[in-house]
Amino acid sequence: MGTLGRKIMVVDDNQDFVDFIRKILESKDFRVSVALDGKTAIEKALFDIPELVLLDLKLPDIPGEEVLKRIKEIDKDIAVIVITGYGGEQVAVDMMRKGAVDFLSKPIDYEVLISSMKNGLEIRDAQIEDRRFDRYPSLERFFPFLAHEIRNPLHAISGALAIIQRRSDLKDEILAQSIKIINEEVRHLNEFVQECLNFVRPPDAVRFIGVEINEVISVVMNVILHMLESESKKIRVVTDITPHLPLVYANYEELKQVFLNIVKNAYEAMPDGGELTIKACLRPDSQKDIEITFIDNGTGIKKENLNKLFNPFFTTKVRGTGLGLAVCRRIIVERYHGKIHVESIENKGTTVKV
Ligand SMILES: Nc1ncnc2c1ncn2[C@@H]1O[C@H](COP(=O)(O)OP(=O)(O)OP(=O)(O)O)[C@@H](O)[C@H]1O
Ligand SMILES: [Mg+2]
Repeated sequence: MGTLGRKIMVVDDNQDFVDFIRKILESKDFRVSVALDGKTAIEKALFDIPELVLLDLKLPDIPGEEVLKRIKEIDKDIAVIVITGYGGEQVAVDMMRKGAVDFLSKPIDYEVLISSMKNGLEIRDAQIEDRRFDRYPSLERFFPFLAHEIRNPLHAISGALAIIQRRSDLKDEILAQSIKIINEEVRHLNEFVQECLNFVRPPDAVRFIGVEINEVISVVMNVILHMLESESKKIRVVTDITPHLPLVYANYEELKQVFLNIVKNAYEAMPDGGELTIKACLRPDSQKDIEITFIDNGTGIKKENLNKLFNPFFTTKVRGTGLGLAVCRRIIVERYHGKIHVESIENKGTTVKV
């Protein structure tokens, strides 16, 4: 694990000790802030939340124990390593029960300090990561309920709007436009809810059949032609599909959904036209693994976004749901044990390999 740029706060009333620790940590590329008493520590932590705190137990104003408690209240993910003078170990153990990740006794060994800090940061990262996954299954349980609660009023709004539409004078330009906007927004919300439901729906294992990749791709291109009619006029599609590829044992609809999401993204990345190449072949080192590649010369993806693409709800589009690639991964990786991979250069284009 890198230490580069991680935010550390050192809390100790001994200026020499603080200066010494700061020098060591900065040489390891930590970002270090300092507080010489408890009150300052709490204020600073509130203002700019550190990832890890080195906390001396004996402070001039507030007991270390209280500082620990307050820091944990600010953000329970802040890793706190307690530092004690000689003989303070018993208290330190007690502090670990109260949420500290480790304790060190003075004089401090530099290597022990660094390794304890790395460990503390790792625990912190793991806790944050765990919570992300914790939320996942509960989202699945919760969403159908939420969807129901959203859709019912949406239906009511649509119904009421239809009545307004019928009974009002649609020659009134502003009124007609407003009704159109409400209609579109309601439709968008309905679609959003549907996409979320598709995302959390459990796999349908019954409908596994031998699927011809060639056929799925041509069906997908047909759907796209209707779905993105105006874009389709400006985009040249080149296909290079090895004939007689082995059948893929899969759910046809799911595969279709995967390719549709990928092609749709490619089209959306080429609003002013461009070229999409779709290749399918056997992987060179395999007799049965098929590799399907989609290459576009659209907007490409910013480097800092590359690792977020598959996160549910990650989107850079005004009207995006951010579920397209998350669904692809779910189907390809989690259900079919395949691989999906995106490479991209901003302003050059994107390649998606399945
Ligand atoms: N071919 C591509 N070219 C450029 N950016 C892409 C491409 N494919 C994906 N992206 C980026 O990845 C993000 C996530 O894609 P994803 O399909 O998951 O969601 P979305 O397209 O934003 O919304 P949705 O598919 O739910 O309508 C997009 O918002 C876009 O920034
Ligand atoms: Mg998409």
